[in-house]
Amino acid sequence: MKYFNRLAMGTCYYPEHWDESLWLNDLQRMLKAGIGTIRIAEFAWNKFENEEGVFTFDFFDRFLDVVEQTDMKVIFCTPTATPPAWLTQKYPEVLQADQDGHIFYHGCRRHYNYNAPVYLEKTRIIVEELAQHYADRKCIVGWQIDNELNCQIGEFFSEADSAAFRVFLKEKYGTLNKLNEAWGTVFWNQTYTDWSQIYLPRHTPHNTSNPHLKLDSLRFYSESCISYCKLHYDILKKHLPKNVFVTTQGLFPHVNYNRLHDEALDFLTYDSYPMFGLSDEGGNRLKDRKWSMELARIRGAGNEFGIMEQQSGPGGWYNRRFMPTPKPGQIRLWTYQSVANGADYISYFRWRTCTFGTEIYWHGILNYDNQDNRRLQEITDIGREFEKLSDLAGKTYQAKVAILYDYDNEWDGETDVWHGPLRKYSNAGLFQALQESHVPFNYVTVSPNLRAADLKAYEVVFAPHMTIMDPGLAECMKEYVKGGGILIAGARTGYKDRNGRCPMDIMPIGMTDLFGMEIRDFTALNAESPYAYASLGDKKLYMPFFHDLLTPVADTCETVAVYSEDFYKGTPAIVKNQYGKGQAWYFGAAFDCETVKELLKTLGVESLIKDLAEVPPCCEISIREGDGKAYLFVLNYTGDTVELELKKEMRNALTDEKVSGAYKLDAYGVLILEV
Ligand code: GAL
Repeated sequence: MKYFNRLAMGTCYYPEHWDESLWLNDLQRMLKAGIGTIRIAEFAWNKFENEEGVFTFDFFDRFLDVVEQTDMKVIFCTPTATPPAWLTQKYPEVLQADQDGHIFYHGCRRHYNYNAPVYLEKTRIIVEELAQHYADRKCIVGWQIDNELNCQIGEFFSEADSAAFRVFLKEKYGTLNKLNEAWGTVFWNQTYTDWSQIYLPRHTPHNTSNPHLKLDSLRFYSESCISYCKLHYDILKKHLPKNVFVTTQGLFPHVNYNRLHDEALDFLTYDSYPMFGLSDEGGNRLKDRKWSMELARIRGAGNEFGIMEQQSGPGGWYNRRFMPTPKPGQIRLWTYQSVANGADYISYFRWRTCTFGTEIYWHGILNYDNQDNRRLQEITDIGREFEKLSDLAGKTYQAKVAILYDYDNEWDGETDVWHGPLRKYSNAGLFQALQESHVPFNYVTVSPNLRAADLKAYEVVFAPHMTIMDPGLAECMKEYVKGGGILIAGARTGYKDRNGRCPMDIMPIGMTDLFGMEIRDFTALNAESPYAYASLGDKKLYMPFFHDLLTPVADTCETVAVYSEDFYKGTPAIVKNQYGKGQAWYFGAAFDCETVKELLKTLGVESLIKDLAEVPPCCEISIREGDGKAYLFVLNYTGDTVELELKKEMRNALTDEKVSGAYKLDAYGVLILEV
């Protein structure tokens, strides 16, 4: 079911932060600016249950009565991100702990754990009470569960979590023998003889735990989060009218968002703060544009999505971070960054900056003074533009390329220094190369249900470093290539099973036929290694971090590039194998941005807009298409005017003018053309 039939704007509002006399005026000013939805109540538990078991709804009833004097719509939240002081005092077992067992006390937020039975019960009660009381309020169009699950803390170590971990493991392995086998506990005498001996990773020398336990612990965090979310979802869905949606926001560590989306939500929302990218200190050449990578991940978890919090002011807590104010045009740019990447709903964080508390510096649209300002004006202008773009909602982001994303591999890579750094480097390198070559991509998440048919639409599929591999995934890749696809796998593909153990077999395990080669030797490189090169004809390619030394074994396997240094000079570094109707490429290193650009050229992968426009690499492009209409977005992230060349006449969707030929796009400018 589709929930957004037109592009829409919202904001986050906290009636409990303001004098009631401001409410109506605030709502009227929002509506005047084009903001038609507010999100409320995600941190307001005490307003409903100030004393255990005594429920009062009068505060939000009064507020919703005011809302209903207007046309404003509401996204109501379950308030579980901040359990009340009375609750954590009476039931300290609900509190969260760090790895050393230090408790996170009341005073910030997200200080609870997902597994304390009493918290699950208190959650069930408050959600049930709220759902029953507010289900029929006409102004409520949707609900948000909690707030940013797994934000602040993405690994949990409370007693309740370890107890639940044991239950999770019993269900998974059945017997201790099987668990000991899967985790290889015979190594360093880690063998467990009783379930009670097992804990989530605790402090050890070098803080090194058994890697297979570690991987299961990260899966467990995700399971805990999903089942906590589903607890809310099932209750809400039982009470709410069919057209009222349930969502929550991403992206945070150790959550499988595809499963969260499929099992516990109607659609996902994302909280987009691109200013984090602008204030990044090292390595991120793309700055705020890098937020499109996160948007691609959200899109990869479900086609329909919204932005629950879009940055609208300077940021920072009183003791954390420090961010400049968005320059004129940047709120608009970031808004369209979200829209260009597929979002149909944009809600700005927050209406007015709070005048007290931890987030006094995390500014919203309005400043403390409550006066109209340039940020409100910019958003008002966007609201007018959204009216002209209303039929954009539901249009699909056009991607030529897919990147396979596998949670097990990502999580294993967090601690595994042999493939973790490659993964990070390649994610950034691939993203930047595809962005700057104007080749839009989708992340496709690996799951037992992934089939070659899900990949068929893509010209090329990158499988950066599928270290953990299983026969099902290998089969899916083979089917895709057999059918005519081009698959490009990176170093370290296929040498671990799903437990993270390395089977005694020839690498890439189960895929030597697909790539027509075997990996008989390999070496890690340090980041500064002068030997990290391969030759592709007369071109020198940067091949960092790791070198798989490739030995072709099939006649169909062709060497594309060879390593140019060290004892293995001349050894194949990139090979391609004709397999069925397609090609399987193996790339022996991590993916560097410039190297990927060369690779795309060699493969003949062209810009999505090659027939429409010439756009410099500093601009992001995308096309959203559906119902016989397509819109091209060009986003200029720089502070300078850039020149575009429009190769045919197109309608500027915001001004209605026909444009063609040379076109100047302003600093931080956005161009939307109907193509
Ligand atoms: C988000 C959060 C909001 C607010 C905002 C600015 O992560 O959901 O409640 O804290 O960041 O810090």
